[in-house]
Amino acid sequence: MHGIIFAELKKYVVARMGTKAWNDLLAASGMQDKVFLPNQAYGDVDVITLVTTASRLTGKSASDILEDFGEFLAPDLLTMYRPQLDPAWRTLDIIENTEQLIHRQVRVQSPGALPPQLQVVREGPDKLRLTYTSRRQMCGVAKGIARGIAREQHEHIRVTEPECMLKGGQRCDIRVERVG
Ligand code: HEM
Repeated sequence: MHGIIFAELKKYVVARMGTKAWNDLLAASGMQDKVFLPNQAYGDVDVITLVTTASRLTGKSASDILEDFGEFLAPDLLTMYRPQLDPAWRTLDIIENTEQLIHRQVRVQSPGALPPQLQVVREGPDKLRLTYTSRRQMCGVAKGIARGIAREQHEHIRVTEPECMLKGGQRCDIRVERVG
């Protein structure tokens, strides 16, 4: 997993709960001396351990933490790839184009980073269907990023997930609809 994600995870924990909480989380995860650099890649097991431990410490579900983290992360992701994004694009357009324009480029430029293959079907101007199948099973991040992009774009969206790998599904079937 890309070091950016770990750098952002630290930023997220510090923003929500302070620097001590991040140090406590590292210690409780058995990673007290670990430093995550944004230009390196780290094992998926590290992020899974950190999120599982955060879930144990806070009593929140891992899915809820990942979703909140995804929402927090979205503005920085948008800033990083702003030059690739058409300024006229709204939330659904950005999600629709992420696979072709962004995730594909991340896979080429950052060895060790494997962003998920996002399959998007634009079902209408105000709705799309996103199929997520990563073995990391982090659909919460996808839903959170969608919400975070909408917040940045001052739009309201409804996100539903009629099928989810975490509930025994073959895939995560995420529906995003612009409302209001
Ligand atoms: C807007 C610009 C975006 C950028 C720059 C970006 C970049 C990245 C990067 C660098 C990773 C880490 C991958 C790795 O280390 O293997 C990642 C992971 C991820 N991205 Fe994106 N992404 C963007 C938008 C989106 C959108 C719109 C979605 C879905 C709504 C999405 C869903 C995910 C998910 C779920 C992961 C977690 C890893 C996994 O599930 O396998 N991303 N992204």
